[in-house]
Amino acid sequence: MNNDNRHVIRAANLVKKFGNLRAVDDVSFTLSPGECLGLLGPNGAGKTSTIRMVYGFSPISSGRLEVFGLDIKTRWRRIRAKIGVCQQDNNLDPDLTVLQNLEVFARYFDLRRKEARDRSLQLLKFIALESRKDDKVTSLSGGMVRRLVLARALINNPELIILDEPTTGLDPQARHQLWERLELLQANGISILLTTHYMDEASRLCDRLILMDHGKILVEGKPAELIHSHAGDYVVEIEDPDDEVREFVNGHGFLNDVLDRRIILYGVEGDGLFDLIGERLCKDRCIKRLATLEDVFLRLTGRELRE
Ligand SMILES: Nc1ncnc2c1ncn2[C@@H]1O[C@H](COP(=O)(O)OP(=O)(O)OP(=O)(O)O)[C@@H](O)[C@H]1O
Ligand SMILES: [Mg+2]
Repeated sequence: MNNDNRHVIRAANLVKKFGNLRAVDDVSFTLSPGECLGLLGPNGAGKTSTIRMVYGFSPISSGRLEVFGLDIKTRWRRIRAKIGVCQQDNNLDPDLTVLQNLEVFARYFDLRRKEARDRSLQLLKFIALESRKDDKVTSLSGGMVRRLVLARALINNPELIILDEPTTGLDPQARHQLWERLELLQANGISILLTTHYMDEASRLCDRLILMDHGKILVEGKPAELIHSHAGDYVVEIEDPDDEVREFVNGHGFLNDVLDRRIILYGVEGDGLFDLIGERLCKDRCIKRLATLEDVFLRLTGRELRE
């Protein structure tokens, strides 16, 4: 792999081992400048393990990883100076105020006191928390804390921000507010790598998605392309299907998933699926809706709850 400045991240055959477990198992991907790339996958898929290597928090076990064209193994200090990180857990200092949390963090990047204060105030304005600047962080709501963590990640004017489940546990208002901030950052050319369990978030924010499971990449592509290839255009869900419906499903070649009390059929535009089944066989017990990324996720990673 040549030194490559066209990519913000270039990972080739990346592996992370914990003892015998290959938490990240031969993963290759790139992130282009200005792109928002989403990592999806069930609990334990290897998302956090992957991104921790990218921000130099966890050494790679094998493979190659370049960020800004620099080798993570030797140039992690330089790389980290250009990255902003929101970890999966909030790790603000509970003894400090909102403003102090930002100022103290700014000092790690060698910003002068005045510069640190100006930048911190500017970021508090960006996340609409100016009025809370002198409050202890323990008095903030969950959504405010996540916004503050985002502000802290921006203190060094990063070219790449890495967000591990940025909106988990937030109410719809707080999520939408955070999305708007992220979209503004993206409009300013900042590259984003994020993980999320919210498929609507992934569809809205990400230009490209990688779906992982058991440390490996299952599929990769634009949200709309993934939906079209793996779940079609629309979905018919039939509750408590009777024998007639089951016979229909077996007799026709439509893509389907048969669950305990439900059959899901995946249709494409113009295939007449809904006319055939919806009108004739199960008028009251079926719905037609658009195919979503959640369908893709469940089709490719299964519906069972993991240990
Ligand atoms: N420090 C560690 N030591 C040992 N095993 C670890 C360590 N960190 C992660 N693992 C294991 O590696 C696998 C991947 O974990 P990881 O945290 O990367 O998953 P994830 O995709 O981020 O999941 P989630 O959606 O739950 O956050 C899991 O089996 C986990 O138990
Ligand atoms: Mg994780």
